[in-house]
Amino acid sequence: MNVDGVPYRTIWPAADGRAVEIIDQTRLPHAFVTARLETLADAARAIRDMQVRGAPLIGATAAWGLALAMQADASDAALAAAYETLFATRPTAVNLRWALDDVRARLLPLDAGLRADAARARAAAICDEDAAICEAIGEHGLEFLQAAWDVKQARKQDGPVNILTHCNAGWLATVDWGTALAPIYKAHDAGLPVHVWVDETRPRNQGAGLTAWELGRHGVPHHVIVDNAGGHLMRRGLVDLCITGTDRTTANGDVCNKIGTYLKASAARDNFVPFYVALPSPTIDWTLEKGEDIPIEERDPAEVTTVTGRTADGRIETVTVTPEGSPAVNYGFDVTPYWLVTALITERGVCAAGRDGLARLFPERAAGRPDESTG
Ligand code: MRU
Repeated sequence: MNVDGVPYRTIWPAADGRAVEIIDQTRLPHAFVTARLETLADAARAIRDMQVRGAPLIGATAAWGLALAMQADASDAALAAAYETLFATRPTAVNLRWALDDVRARLLPLDAGLRADAARARAAAICDEDAAICEAIGEHGLEFLQAAWDVKQARKQDGPVNILTHCNAGWLATVDWGTALAPIYKAHDAGLPVHVWVDETRPRNQGAGLTAWELGRHGVPHHVIVDNAGGHLMRRGLVDLCITGTDRTTANGDVCNKIGTYLKASAARDNFVPFYVALPSPTIDWTLEKGEDIPIEERDPAEVTTVTGRTADGRIETVTVTPEGSPAVNYGFDVTPYWLVTALITERGVCAAGRDGLARLFPERAAGRPDESTG
């Protein structure tokens, strides 16, 4: 997508062929800064410290991390160690394991001398595939936005299609296009009037800092709202539909996404607002039956007790918002059960959120799984 007219992806090979470059998302929205990853340690740190984040981009960066590791040492032992280092960075987004498994499986049969080039080629291909997958998600999701617009027109209702989203599932969370935001970009580019309610998404404010930033750069009308405003807006009829991303979706269609997603899905159900989840197929964990089995990341409580922002004179400051001594807990993700999700939007099309819907779109992956009628 474009940043001030310049097309960017979130990760790309450096011109000298020895490193990859990323947009440092810890600096957004106050500064647009790129960073160079030269080593396995750089890649692992970038994921762990959330310079890159979002399930698909975590996977892409992990693939590049293996490539950087192979550049230094392409032995079996180094491959195993690099896999473990990267796998330990963040627990919830399953794209991490997917990408590591994919690259490792291609490298293991090769002589060590061939591994660095092969890893680079596969990491680059994973990035290209992710961009294509997300664009296809955009095309499929556009149908819902078009339908919502048609309904508004038929009912002679004023105003744009109002979409509520949570966290950042835009192009910054992927290699390009995004998942939840891809249909919105497609609609906006096609001239469909859209407006986005952007949940701020405490504690790290991926909505306020990242989603608002990328929507603004693309010229998509939006307002940032506090996390608790969504229910009120829905009751007032100011939300036509919700779209979020997911970090892991289990075989029964349960969706694990940024903490707070479940509450939005619950409010959407109570108000008859469609709740869609956009996901690339590497985000589906076919090895897990249900959302309760997903490991939920617990992060530093300091993310809850503090807030970081820019002062009027341009300094970035972190301030404490809780009383001294009050403990905090910081769960990063929650699970929205499949029955609260109106439909899943994938690169292969749209399906009911549930075992049967996913199996219909991905029969080759679902084959061999126990035949259960629920979900
Ligand atoms: O903790 P983050 O910022 O990595 O969490 C990201 C999300 O929860 C996104 O909504 C999810 O990865 C889907 S993005 C395509």
